[in-house]
Amino acid sequence: MKIRILPFFLLPILLLSSCTNDSTDDLVSFDPNQEVKYSTSIKNIIDNNCLQCHGSTPSFGAPMSLTTYEEVKDAVLNRGLIDRISRTEGSTGAMPLGAQRLPQVTIDLISQWEDEGLAE
Ligand code: HEC
Repeated sequence: MKIRILPFFLLPILLLSSCTNDSTDDLVSFDPNQEVKYSTSIKNIIDNNCLQCHGSTPSFGAPMSLTTYEEVKDAVLNRGLIDRISRTEGSTGAMPLGAQRLPQVTIDLISQWEDEGLAE
């Protein structure tokens, strides 16, 4: 008796749980159709990974600051920022220096920002 009833309990549970997994609410804000902007996407990434050295007063030998839109834009255009973050972890000149390579989605997001014209 018990064993016959079991599937009738399990089936709705399985169906319900498979439905709730389709929500996109918990996805990180990465929408390929949405224009990437410095203020909404890029600033946070730079703040969290680069400012220990590239702060408003650069430290640990870093040659420039990356605290403003103009500075980050200049680094992409004239200082090879995207090349530096794309290098293999541990290779010469790879950024962030001495730390883990940024996740590929993050690197892609910054590349997309450049491709779209570096919106503020
Ligand atoms: C631990 C300190 C440190 C961190 C963190 C760091 N950098 Fe650097 N960065 C340096 C130093 C030192 C140099 C100069 C040596 C060199 O060119 O490799 C440099 C150089 C650079 C250059 C080349 C500048 C030029 O004019 O040639 C770029 C671009 C750069 N960093 C971007 C970044 C980005 C983007 C991040 C964050 C994802 C980052 N760095 C994180 C220390 C750091």
